[in-house]
Amino acid sequence: MPWRTEPLALVTGVARLGTGWVRLLRQNGWQVAYSWHQLPPPELETLTQTQPELVHGFRCDLEQPYSAGKLFDQVTHWAGKTPSLVLHAASRWFNDTVADTTEEAWFTSLRLHAWPLAAWTRQLLAAGTPASLITVLDARTSAPTPGEFSYGWGKRLAAGLVADLARQAAPLVRVNGLALGPVLSPTGGELRWDSWVKALPLGVQPPLSDIDQALLFLLNSTSVTGEILHIDGGAGLVRRELSL
Ligand SMILES: NC(=O)c1ccc[n+]([C@@H]2O[C@H](COP(=O)([O-])OP(=O)(O)OC[C@H]3O[C@@H](n4cnc5c(N)ncnc54)[C@H](OP(=O)(O)O)[C@@H]3O)[C@@H](O)[C@H]2O)c1
Repeated sequence: MPWRTEPLALVTGVARLGTGWVRLLRQNGWQVAYSWHQLPPPELETLTQTQPELVHGFRCDLEQPYSAGKLFDQVTHWAGKTPSLVLHAASRWFNDTVADTTEEAWFTSLRLHAWPLAAWTRQLLAAGTPASLITVLDARTSAPTPGEFSYGWGKRLAAGLVADLARQAAPLVRVNGLALGPVLSPTGGELRWDSWVKALPLGVQPPLSDIDQALLFLLNSTSVTGEILHIDGGAGLVRRELSL
C-alpha cells in the first residue's frame, strides 16, 4: 500500500458510538484503523471497501495477553507509520458484585479497560513523535455503582491512569479521557434508562454532537493533557442507584 500523508488514528471497540467516531475522524482528514472483536461492524463495510487505503479494520480481542501491543504493531505495519491518535472505546459490561464476581471477570475488566492505556503510552513514547491517547470512560463509575463491580473498577482504574500517564508521557504524548453519561440505551433496559436520564441534574441525554465536539476539542487542543471531560448531563455529579 502506498504510504499516505494523513495522520493515523487507531479506534478500538467500534460498535455503536465507535462507528460514528471513525466517520468523524475520516471527515476531519484522518486515516483510520479500527479494531473489532466478534464481528466486523456492518456500518463501516462500505467505507472500508471503498477507501481501503484510508480505513481498515483489524480483528482483536483485547482481553488476551499482549493483544494491545500486537494491535498497535499491526496498525503501524499497515499504515507505515505509528498512530498520532489512539482512541480506546472497547468495553465490556459485567453485572457483578463482590459476592458473585470471579477473579477472571475482575482481571478481564482491568486488562480490557486499563492495561491497553499503559501499553499504548509506552509504544507511542517509543515511536518518538507527538501523539494523543484518549480513553472513553463512564461517568457513572466515578463512584462505585451497585452491580458493576468489575466493570466499574476497570473504568475507574482507567480514569485514574489518565493523569499519571499524562505526567509520565509529557511532552510527547497527551493523555485525556471522555467520561460519557447515558448516550445510547442498552437493549432491553430502556425503561430504567429513561428514569436515569430524568434523574440527571440537567435532565437530558447528552447529544452525540456534544461528544463529537469534545473529541475534536481534545484532539486539537495541544496544551490539554491529563484531563477528563464529562459529557454526561451532570451524571458524574450524582451517585446513580439504578443498575442497568
Ligand atoms: N453508550 C453509552 O451510553 C455509554 C455510556 C457511558 C460510557 N460509554 C462508553 O463509551 C464507549 C462506547 O460505547 P458503546 O455504547 O458504543 O459500546 P458498545 O456498543 O458496548 O461497544 C463496545 C465495543 O467494545 C468491543 N469489545 C468488547 N470486548 C472486547 C474485547 N475483548 N476486545 C476488543 N473489543 C472488545 C465490542 O465488540 P463485540 O461487541 O464484538 O464484543 C464493541 O465493539 C465504551 O467505552 C462505553 O463504556 C458508553
